[in-house]
Amino acid sequence: MAIKLAIQNLSKLYPTGEGVQNIDFHVEEGELVTLLGPSGCGKTTVLRSVGGFIDPTGGAIKVSDQDVHHLPPEKRPSAMVFQSYNLWPHMTVFDNLAFSLKLKKVKKIEIQQRVEEVLTLVHLQGMEKKYPSELSGGQQQRIALARALLLEPEVLLLDEPFSALDAKLRHELREELRDIQSKRNLTMLFVTHDQEEALSISDKIVVMNNGHIEQIAPPQDIYNTPASLFVAQFIGRMNFIKGQAVNNTIQIGDITLTMDDLYTGEVTLGVRPEDIHVADKSSVRIEARVDKMMMLGHFAEITLHTLIGSLKMFVDRQQLEQFELNSTISIKLVNFIVFKENGEVLSNRRMNVNEMV
Ligand SMILES: Nc1ncnc2c1ncn2[C@@H]1O[C@H](COP(=O)(O)OP(=O)(O)OP(=O)(O)O)[C@@H](O)[C@H]1O
Ligand SMILES: [Mg+2]
Repeated sequence: MAIKLAIQNLSKLYPTGEGVQNIDFHVEEGELVTLLGPSGCGKTTVLRSVGGFIDPTGGAIKVSDQDVHHLPPEKRPSAMVFQSYNLWPHMTVFDNLAFSLKLKKVKKIEIQQRVEEVLTLVHLQGMEKKYPSELSGGQQQRIALARALLLEPEVLLLDEPFSALDAKLRHELREELRDIQSKRNLTMLFVTHDQEEALSISDKIVVMNNGHIEQIAPPQDIYNTPASLFVAQFIGRMNFIKGQAVNNTIQIGDITLTMDDLYTGEVTLGVRPEDIHVADKSSVRIEARVDKMMMLGHFAEITLHTLIGSLKMFVDRQQLEQFELNSTISIKLVNFIVFKENGEVLSNRRMNVNEMV
């Protein structure tokens, strides 16, 4: 597919020395790419640079292969939806939406038609006469989205558009945004610090940390094969266990694991809660005491006390009755990632339980 937005070696250094560096990624036509990372990592800085609200220190931003650096925000082929809606309070929904079209001298009848159409798209038909203050947060955010869509941008930029909304509404709007995206084949750059939101909505995730990119990959890959300890800590749940590697073995307490790689030094083993399974009788296992059981909807979280530390394990809702508080069970780690001291991935593999010595 064609590359719609290319960000090449972008940097922005604020006078304080903070900012972003070596930002390099692209968004293909019709793709939704998410910038994900903790507060202050530089997501908004990247997004605003693309939108033209920030002047970068270096690098290039291209939309459909055209450099947009010299263009002011309103002349760029992009539109931005902000976290704080930014609707004009003294204007009705209709006027908020029609504003940009009037500026473009679009005919009255066509404005009427396009506003109606976009309101239907965001499920707010018949709201034309209301003022922003008469709308809920979710409705205002939909209007802000509708207003950006009316600009027919080549690239739609969204900065934490749903973060002010409650969880249920956030879910709904995420789905709606995906629907609208596929209906209109929109190209989007979406910013969030919510890993669940990023995993559920994105074609590709750009994980940022402290002004640089840690990993670029589809959600599935980010989850299954995080490129660093930082990504593993930030995305999904994971148990971290300290160990000592010597050549191709890892010693954790009195447990010895083997890995494909050779390394000597301190390591951290990362194990997802769903990759801890109850071990059958024949396999080599780790003894664990059931310390806590918590129902979390369709699955349950079990806290285990083991000789290698406290571990969280996820089991299906139906399996929960097989567990008893304070009882002792045997577990195995079916998949683990080994991180070096500097946070780089050393080994990432699905493990055969028989390999546990
Ligand atoms: N105008 C500015 N002047 C100086 N420093 C700034 C400015 N804007 C942002 N920064 C700094 O640059 C870094 C990145 O900020 P940015 O707003 O891009 O982060 P963010 O990832 O969007 O965070 P959040 O999730 O909190 O919105 C932060 O350390 C921030 O303090
Ligand atoms: Mg921000």
